[in-house]
Amino acid sequence: MLVSNECIMSTAAAAGYGVGAFNINNLETLMAIEEAAVEEKSPVIVAITPSAIRYGGLDYLASIVKVAAKRISVPVSLHLDHGKDLETITRCLKAGFTSVMIDASHLEYKENVAMTKAAVSLAHKSGASVEAELGVLAGIEEDLVKEGDVVLTDPHLAEEFVKRTKVDALAIAIGTSHGAYKYKGDPMLDFERLKAIRKQTDVLLVLHGASNVPLWVIERATKYGAELAGAKGIREDHIQRAISLGISKINIDTDLRLAFTGAVRQVLATSPKQFDPRKILGPAKEAMKEVAQMKMRLFGSSGKVVAKEMNA
Ligand code: G3H
Ligand code: 13P
Ligand code: ZN
Repeated sequence: MLVSNECIMSTAAAAGYGVGAFNINNLETLMAIEEAAVEEKSPVIVAITPSAIRYGGLDYLASIVKVAAKRISVPVSLHLDHGKDLETITRCLKAGFTSVMIDASHLEYKENVAMTKAAVSLAHKSGASVEAELGVLAGIEEDLVKEGDVVLTDPHLAEEFVKRTKVDALAIAIGTSHGAYKYKGDPMLDFERLKAIRKQTDVLLVLHGASNVPLWVIERATKYGAELAGAKGIREDHIQRAISLGISKINIDTDLRLAFTGAVRQVLATSPKQFDPRKILGPAKEAMKEVAQMKMRLFGSSGKVVAKEMNA
């Protein structure tokens, strides 16, 4: 069943668990997430970026998510991830997205407010919810911490931003970053900042760049030739602490990509005569499904879809 992020997240926030937003750009990744959500009885957010749209086509990607949402009875949201302009937001709303992110965090504060307000007005007319971003995602490198609140989200500004834009969800910067190389030193998140943000505003909170870069996934990929020296992600206990402090949507892309890569490499390296795409991509789907299921358990969303909803 297709619902908005706001619906999934507010239920999660009230019950104190988190929900994974998993990026897709092809059928196998969607199938992995769909199967994981059904087996875990977990709500799920399917996230599609503008570059995924350029790769797979808006109509194709939106259609397969709608098909998946129709045939399973766990709540599914079709979400635009990191939308950068109102034109993309409009296209996605027309295509039936139930949630959109306007990421104007790279702009001046005033322009971020203005663009977010405009996105909220467009999306709310279509019954979709809106996520915006304040702050810049980056690892907490020592020099940045010393410089002060240059890139991490300012709690007072967050409060003002939410009041002015009426956004439903806010992505905050507390030390995560996108990709597989999040830290040079010890992984850390600014939990005090998260607490302060939670105190200032009751908007739904989102953590981008939340992949863990699991060792077993890295080991498998490197065993079969991947070069990933220095890859490091967010600690699992840090994610759980962030959820306990108010994060209710956790964005995962890198861990799925790494699992995909390791599985494909393994098939190609161990079965050189294999050339059936299904025999190459099937194990990749299974590997991504395993990762998605582990996330659902970690975030506490497993088992949260009750029998009544499952039979709906
Ligand atoms: O922020 C989301 C992604 O990890 C980057 O995705 O390569 O599809 O833009 P993309
Ligand atoms: P990761 O790169 O940590 O998986 O983050 C993905 C993300 O934030 C997508 O919006
Ligand atoms: Zn992101």
